[in-house]
Amino acid sequence: MHQKIKEYIESHRERFLNELFELLRIPSVSADPQYKEAVFKAAYKTAEFLKAAGIQYVEVCPTPGYPVVYGEHLFDPSLPTVLVYGHYDVQPPDPLDLWESGPFDPVVKKTDIHPEGAVFARGACDDKGQFFMHVKAVEAMLATDTMPCNVKFMIEGEEEVGSEHLAWFVANNKEKLKCDTILISDTGILSNETPSICTGLRGLSYVEVEVVGPNRDLHSGLYGGAVPNPINILAKMIASLHDENNRITIPGFYDDVVNLSDEERRLMAEAPHSDEAFKKSIGLKNTWGESGFTTPERTSIRPTLDVNGIWGGYTGEGAKTVIPSKAFAKISMRLVPNQNPDKITRLFSEHFIKIAPDCVSVKVKPHHGGEPYVSPLDSPEYQAASLAMQSTFGKKPVPVRSGGSIPIVSLFERELGVKSILLGFGLDSDAIHSPNEHFGLFNYYIGIETIPYFYENYVNIKKA
Ligand code: BES
Ligand code: MN
Ligand code: MN
Repeated sequence: MHQKIKEYIESHRERFLNELFELLRIPSVSADPQYKEAVFKAAYKTAEFLKAAGIQYVEVCPTPGYPVVYGEHLFDPSLPTVLVYGHYDVQPPDPLDLWESGPFDPVVKKTDIHPEGAVFARGACDDKGQFFMHVKAVEAMLATDTMPCNVKFMIEGEEEVGSEHLAWFVANNKEKLKCDTILISDTGILSNETPSICTGLRGLSYVEVEVVGPNRDLHSGLYGGAVPNPINILAKMIASLHDENNRITIPGFYDDVVNLSDEERRLMAEAPHSDEAFKKSIGLKNTWGESGFTTPERTSIRPTLDVNGIWGGYTGEGAKTVIPSKAFAKISMRLVPNQNPDKITRLFSEHFIKIAPDCVSVKVKPHHGGEPYVSPLDSPEYQAASLAMQSTFGKKPVPVRSGGSIPIVSLFERELGVKSILLGFGLDSDAIHSPNEHFGLFNYYIGIETIPYFYENYVNIKKA
């Protein structure tokens, strides 16, 4: 049976790539209202591709925000149902001047890590290239009469901005979304030589802070020395959020953190990692992080606090001698099981307001958050994914907890009572959210080949 699928993929290779290019040319940036029309266009294009793949029923479901593209191909209610989730929205492309080719003008270029070429475009890896692998894999199975179970698709357009309306859609469509497992390709593997399956995601608490000093910008000579400078004060407050061991100082921050056993940490350390290669890949002389933990631990099983942006005062050409009235920062905290984003946001706010000196006033505005997620290794879907990767990579994948977040995954579990399997094929070096985002052709095609094995294994394991 796999020969037929393999041949189908082989003989449609070029078209599979050209179709992905069509999707990548649509600048579906969900964060910026300027791109609104394009985001809708990407939804309709996605629906068109689902129909063309042979999916029986396809619907573009409106929400108060961007639509959810839904599809279903149901054979038999006694067979398992796999729900594929992905997102057709992308991150803003800026800074534009750092792109070597247009962000919405996909091209294939070779890199050291992708000697057979990679598609360069915003969304190539996150997540158009990855959810499109599923559209093509299902097309290949339908065309060769090898689709072994029911399949549903739910491709949203607001993942990069917090999935607000997808949460609404899920809560209101529980029957429609009924399934046995949720299959997601929106994460990565360790390397093309070391396949891995993502077994966890971090949660997120995101806040914006404002520090206000004097009621107007002041001459820094006439007033300087006698008035609080909100930027100086904000910098000091932020600096105090980590101690000398780089642990976060917010009281209660670590209270609910699930610590891994020595055995679990030992298992984690078996996954290949080189600090030298890590440092080299991002141009660092040294790493930084919480004492007592390794780099892979710091980026996955430990919570973090990072400033994402900080502004205020004069940043234009030349010098302006001014004490600004206000200073701002955006701060994100990555969370691990069992930290609760609402509780962490509250602890942050209380602490941040408490440490502010009384010469300034402080406001904390919460943004979207999300819960962390962990998946079991003994589930039918994990086993099916592991065997599938073994078939295509020739190696058993290692389980790896990721540092990224897909907040909707824990919501699926809560609302639908269904676990997700995170079968992603990207690489950390694919520059998602950065200029020159790309996705390896090797990764794209091996993804399309691995997915049918997943279905076959999953159905067999469920039957057994
Ligand atoms: N696909 C990513 C998340 C990801 C990437 C997880 C690689 C694991 C490995 C997703 O699109 C994303 O960017 N999520 C955001 C959170 C969201 C609320 C904006 C993130 O992690 O910053
Ligand atoms: Mn994504
Ligand atoms: Mn993303």
